[in-house]
Amino acid sequence: MTVNKQWIYARKPNGEVGPEHFEPHDAPMPEPGPGEALVRTTLLSIDPASRAWMAGRTYRAQLEPGEIMAGWGLGEVVKSNSDRVAPGDLVSGEFGWQQFIALPAGKLIKENKAHKPEHLLGVLGITGLTAYFGMLDVGRPQPGETVLVSGAAGAVGCIASQIAKLAGCKVVGTTGGADKCNWLTGELGFDAAIDYKAGGIHRQLKAICPEGVDVYFDNTGGEVLDAALARMNLFGRVVCCGNISQYNATTPAGGPAGVPGFLVTKRIRMEGFVVMDFYNRRHVAEARLAKWVAEGKLKPAVDIVEGFENMPEALAGMFQGKNRGKLAVRV
Ligand SMILES: NC(=O)c1ccc[n+]([C@@H]2O[C@H](COP(=O)([O-])OP(=O)(O)OC[C@H]3O[C@@H](n4cnc5c(N)ncnc54)[C@H](OP(=O)(O)O)[C@@H]3O)[C@@H](O)[C@H]2O)c1
Repeated sequence: MTVNKQWIYARKPNGEVGPEHFEPHDAPMPEPGPGEALVRTTLLSIDPASRAWMAGRTYRAQLEPGEIMAGWGLGEVVKSNSDRVAPGDLVSGEFGWQQFIALPAGKLIKENKAHKPEHLLGVLGITGLTAYFGMLDVGRPQPGETVLVSGAAGAVGCIASQIAKLAGCKVVGTTGGADKCNWLTGELGFDAAIDYKAGGIHRQLKAICPEGVDVYFDNTGGEVLDAALARMNLFGRVVCCGNISQYNATTPAGGPAGVPGFLVTKRIRMEGFVVMDFYNRRHVAEARLAKWVAEGKLKPAVDIVEGFENMPEALAGMFQGKNRGKLAVRV
C-alpha cells in the first residue's frame, strides 16, 4: 500500500449536509515518527456532532474546509515506534476519515479484542457511556417513573432507553416513521413509541403518558422538547444530550416555549452534559454495560455500512433517519 485514501471536508453546508460537501483525496502513506504508531483504520463512527463541528465552535474547534474530515475510529496498529502499543493491537482514537494515520501512541486507546469491534464504537464506547451517564447520573430514573427518550431508535437513544427499562421505568421513545416505532416496541421492549414525523406530538404524548413524564432524555431538541416540557411532572429531570433537529438549521431556532415557565412552576432540573465529564468513571460503566449485553438484558443495536467510499452518504443518511442503532462504516 502506498496510498492513503482520505475524505476531505471540502465545502461548508448551508442547510443539510450531503456528499457534495466532501471530496476524496489520495495522500501518501504516513510514516510514524519517534513515539508514534501507524494505524490501519477498520471501522469509523458516524456521529451527528460532525455536522455541528462544521457549523461553529462546540466542545472542539470548528472544522474548516480543506481539513481531513474529523471522526472517531477503531483500527489495528501496523507499525509502532513506541513500547505503549505493538503491531496487531486493536486501538481507537481520533483518526479522521482516512484509511491510515500515524499518531503519538499516547493518543491511542488500547481496546479489548474479546469484544465485537462494532460494540467498541457503540454500546461499549462513547455511545454507551453517553447513554449510561446521561440516563443514570443526570436523569436519575426511579422505579415506576415514566421516561421519555427522543431519537430513541438511534445509537445513544436506544441504549439510554433500555437502561431506563432496566431501572424499572415505563419507557416511551420518539422516532421517525411507523417501522422504527414498531422496532422499538417489538424488538427493544419499549412500552410505547411515538412517530414524531406523523405530527400532533403534543396530542400523541398526552395520550401515551397521561401520568406525565418524570425524565426526558433529549437527543433532538425542537418540537419534541417543547412537547416534553409541557408534560413534565413536578421535580422532573430533562437530560440535554443533543439537539440533532437543529444541526442542519440555517438560522438558530428560538428557545423552547416552556423555559423558564415550566422549569419554575414544576421545579424541573434541565441539565446538559458531555460524556467526557464522566470519563474517569468509564471503566465501571463499561463493565456494567458489557455484563448487561452478555446477559441479554441490553440489545446493542448496530447498523454497519460497508465501504470507506460510502462515508459521506452514511453521514447524510443519518440526518434522514436511515440508521437503527449505532451507525458505523467498515473501512
Ligand atoms: N452529550 C454528549 O456527550 C453526546 C455524545 C454523543 C452523542 N450526543 C448526541 O446524542 C444525540 C444522538 O446521537 P447518536 O450518535 O445516537 O445518533 P443517532 O441517534 O444514532 O442518529 C441520529 C438520529 O437522529 C434522528 N434525526 C435526524 N434528524 C432529525 C431531526 N431533524 N429531528 C429529530 N430527529 C432527527 C434520526 O432518527 P429518526 O428516524 O428518529 O428521525 C437519526 O437516526 C445527538 O444529538 C448527538 O449530538 C451527545
